[in-house]
Amino acid sequence: MLFSIITPTYNEAKNVKPFILAIRKTLKNYKNYEIIFVDDNSSDKTYKVVKDLSRKYKNIRCLRRIGRRGLSSAVIEGSLSSSADLLLVMDADLQHDEKKIPEMLELQKNYKLDMVVGSRFLKNKYASGLSKKRNFISRLANWLAAKISGVTLSDPMSGFFLVKRSIIDEHASKLTGLGFKILLDIFSSAKIKIKYKEIGFNFRKRKFGESKLSTLVVWEYILLLWETRFGKIIPARFVSFCVIGGTGVMNHLLILYVLKNFNFKFIIAQSVATFSAMTGNFFLNNILTYRDRQKKGIEAFIALIIFYITCGLGAIANVGIANSLYLGKINEVSFAWYVSGIVGALVGAIWNFLMSTLITWRQK
Ligand code: GDD
Ligand code: MN
Repeated sequence: MLFSIITPTYNEAKNVKPFILAIRKTLKNYKNYEIIFVDDNSSDKTYKVVKDLSRKYKNIRCLRRIGRRGLSSAVIEGSLSSSADLLLVMDADLQHDEKKIPEMLELQKNYKLDMVVGSRFLKNKYASGLSKKRNFISRLANWLAAKISGVTLSDPMSGFFLVKRSIIDEHASKLTGLGFKILLDIFSSAKIKIKYKEIGFNFRKRKFGESKLSTLVVWEYILLLWETRFGKIIPARFVSFCVIGGTGVMNHLLILYVLKNFNFKFIIAQSVATFSAMTGNFFLNNILTYRDRQKKGIEAFIALIIFYITCGLGAIANVGIANSLYLGKINEVSFAWYVSGIVGALVGAIWNFLMSTLITWRQK
C-alpha cells in the first residue's frame, strides 16, 4: 500500500459519500491507496454510512471508537492501524482540497520529504472559508505556537498533511493526543528535524453539517501548548484542574458571603457553598479538563456523585495533613500556618486530580 488517507469523522454522515467520490475522481490513476475513517460513534451514524460504502469500495475502512472524543487521538489511532508507507490526514467535510493530493505525493517523492503540509495561509494571510473571527484566532494561535513550541509553520493548525508513517510510528507514544492540533503535536514531539515543505490550498466552505470546533477548543489549544513545553514537569491536565479549582474557591467565597448576608447559619452557608463549588468544578472539568472523556446524561450524574465522595476524602486529607504540620505532629517540628495550609491544599489537589483521572473520568 502506498498511502492511507486518515479521516476523522464526527457527525459527517452527509459528507462521507461526496468525499469518497471526490477522492476517487482525483485519484483515479492511483490504485495503491485506502481511506481509513475514524468515527467517534457519531449520533448520525456516520460509521454506518462508511461501512455500507466499504462493502462496495474495498479500499475503505472504518474504525468506530466508543466513549472517546477528539480529532487528534482519532488521527493517531487511525494512523497506527495503517501499514502503508505514507499517511494523508484530511477532514471529511470537503473543506480540504483533494485536488492537491497528487501534487503532495509528487513533492514528497521528489524531495524525499518527511512531511508535506497543506497550508491555508501560505500566500494569502486570510482563508476565505473562515469567518473574520476564526481568521483572527488562527493567526493568534500561529503566533503563540511559534513563541511557545518553537514551531514556525505558516499554518501549524492545519489538519491537511502528508506524513511518512515511520514518523508517527516512532513518536506515537510521545504524542499528547490532546485537543485537535495534531500537526503541532507531531512537530513539537518529534524533536529531530522534520524535513518538510508547505503547499498552499484554498480552504473551502462547508456544505453539510457544522464545525465541531467551538470556542472551548481555545482552552484545549492552550493546554496542548503547555503540554509540549512543560508537560514533562507538570501535566497540562493538572494545570487545567488547578485553574478550575481556583474558580471553585471564588465560587465558594462568593456564595458564603451572599448567604451570610441573608442571615443563614454559618454551617448551612458553608455547606451550600462547598456543594456549589464542587458541582461547578465538576461541570467545568467535564467540559474542559476531561473534554475527551466527557460524561453525559446518567453517566454524568454518577460521575458527579463519585466526584463529591473523592473530593470529600481529599478535603479530609488536606485538613488532616495541614493540621499535623501546623501542630508539629510530624517529626516534632511545627510549620508556619501558610506552609501548613499550602502543603495541605497541594496534597488535596493532587489527590483530587488523581482520583478524577483514575476513577471519575476513567478512560474506557
Ligand atoms: N473522530 C473524530 N472525533 N473526528 C472529529 C472530532 C472528534 O472529536 N471532531 C471533529 N472531527 C472531524 C470532523 O468530522 C471533520 O472531518 C474534521 O475532524 C474537522 O473537523 P471540523 O469540525 O470540520 O473542523 P473545522 O473545519 O472547524 O477546523 C478545521 O480547521 C482547523 C484549523 O482552524 C480542521 O481542518 C482542523 O483540523 C484544523 O485544525
Ligand atoms: Mn471543517
